[in-house]
Amino acid sequence: MKGIILAGGAGTRLYPLTMVTCKQLLPIYDKPMIYYPLSTLMLAGIKDILIISTPTDLPNFERLLRDGSDFGINLSYKIQPNPDGLAQAFILGEEFIDDDTVAMCLGDNIFYGGSLTERLIIAVNNAEKGYATVFGYYVKDPERFGIMEIDDSGNVISVEEKPKQPKSNYCITGLYFYPKGVSKRAKIVKPSARGELEITSLNEMYLKDGILKAQILGRGFTWIDAGTMDSLTDASVFVQMIQNRQGVVISAPEEIAYIRGWISKDKLLESVDRYGKSPYGQHLRNVATGKFIY
Ligand code: DAU
Repeated sequence: MKGIILAGGAGTRLYPLTMVTCKQLLPIYDKPMIYYPLSTLMLAGIKDILIISTPTDLPNFERLLRDGSDFGINLSYKIQPNPDGLAQAFILGEEFIDDDTVAMCLGDNIFYGGSLTERLIIAVNNAEKGYATVFGYYVKDPERFGIMEIDDSGNVISVEEKPKQPKSNYCITGLYFYPKGVSKRAKIVKPSARGELEITSLNEMYLKDGILKAQILGRGFTWIDAGTMDSLTDASVFVQMIQNRQGVVISAPEEIAYIRGWISKDKLLESVDRYGKSPYGQHLRNVATGKFIY
């Protein structure tokens, strides 16, 4: 399976923070925002990842993440000239996806919860069997998101982008798994009234064909779209609180890679040197030297 992180967009909701840098490179407590979606895709076992961003911002992602070898993965990069919609990622990424299944995580979406890895594996398996998977999360402001209506057995009945009169409070979060052939489908998505190729229109195709599955992330789970001033701060406070209470580090890609055997101890220690005296680097040193007990 391939992975895509969509990390473009204008970021105007966060001005002046995003006037000279992009949202997905802003800090979520101790690390850049993109480390979180990168970790999510790595937890799904994905090792080939395409990062899509604007012509101005893409070089900064490349400077930060390089070829991915620090994380034991392969990273490639692609420009999205204009923010023409989330579904465009699969058209821009057609060659990269080739004839494979693919997962996409939005660059500002943070997922944290005990059963995350198991849930991701279910979605990977669904994609191999020809099903798309979306993840639902109960929100109090459904008109701000893509929304799905589900029946008592958890089957999706309808999907709608930012509905004025939402049929449910279940937001479709920014993590999507698709079977082979998603680029072909993305090419037939028609631009919406706001001129974008909506991911919800793409999901609707899978729904109509009876091949859209949903998993609900329940109350014990945390999902944050860190794209507004308040949610950006909420995300930092959340990560700080969990990390400081438990002594863990949320979404450290090098740690995930090391535990999975994707990088050697020497490679991990190279990253430790690169991060200098930061608490993040110190945590990786503890992981490498066995001082961090799981
Ligand atoms: O976060 C979940 C929500 O994400 C879903 O519930 C919605 O269905 C989905 O449309 C999306 O809604 P947003 O209002 O958050 O979409 P936004 O236009 O803000 O774009 C989401 C992220 O993707 C944002 O970080 C910018 C980036 N982006 C957006 C567009 C339209 C791109 O990189 N390229 C684009 O063309």
